Amino acid sequence: MIPNVIRRVEFQYCKLHFLLRTRPLSHVMYSGSTGLVTPVADPSLLDCSRAAAQDVDGFAIISNFVSSEEEEQLMVDIRRTLRGRKYLYDHWDGAIEGYSETEKSNWSESNTPVIQRLKAVAAAAVTDKVVVPLEQVHVLDLAEDGHIKPHVDSVKFCGEVICGISLLSDSVMQLQHEEYPDRWIHALLSRFSLYIMRGVIRYKYTHAIPTNENSVFKGERITKQRRVSVISRTQPVHS
Ligand code: OGA
Ligand code: MN
Repeated sequence: MIPNVIRRVEFQYCKLHFLLRTRPLSHVMYSGSTGLVTPVADPSLLDCSRAAAQDVDGFAIISNFVSSEEEEQLMVDIRRTLRGRKYLYDHWDGAIEGYSETEKSNWSESNTPVIQRLKAVAAAAVTDKVVVPLEQVHVLDLAEDGHIKPHVDSVKFCGEVICGISLLSDSVMQLQHEEYPDRWIHALLSRFSLYIMRGVIRYKYTHAIPTNENSVFKGERITKQRRVSVISRTQPVHS
């Protein structure tokens, strides 16, 4: 017999899968509190150039993917794991400054549903191929003065989909096509939200989280405080 909780996750997964297949990503809304998936356009969190309009369905933000209680529970777990670590200013590939990070596979029981939900979205984000989320989830703690330089995630370590939950602070993500700079997207990664990146956006656009000096969304300054992201990536594609 399948325990109820697994059935529920499967049910939600199927529903989400259906919506992602039939609608552009930017029209999907996942309500963390009710567990219901409702298609809701949230164009207010994206600002994109005319030239990027053709690619923008590869990026979406789902507001309030986690509740404030879930954020607090996640942070209890994350604080325990990162305890005593100092922020680093020399990332291994030079992409990030002012950060602390870990790859985490053991989550306390209270956080398991959120992590499952995150991975379910990653698994359902593309439908023309099978994508499997990595077992480990990446936790990136960015200091208030930290920033992420424009980069594309290495295809050695990451497949088609990147999904990240933003905790503790709003921030701005800047995406830009590597060959056509007039294709750009600015995204307001609001606290508690989830972003989903796939396809052309994942492979051909760089993504960055700027310093507060350059953190602007639709003409408004967005001051990032300490921000923690919880990121699920799918397994690298080996050809
Ligand atoms: C990364 C990255 C974005 C985020 O770690 O490669 O781009 O949301 N992180 O923290
Ligand atoms: Mn990245």
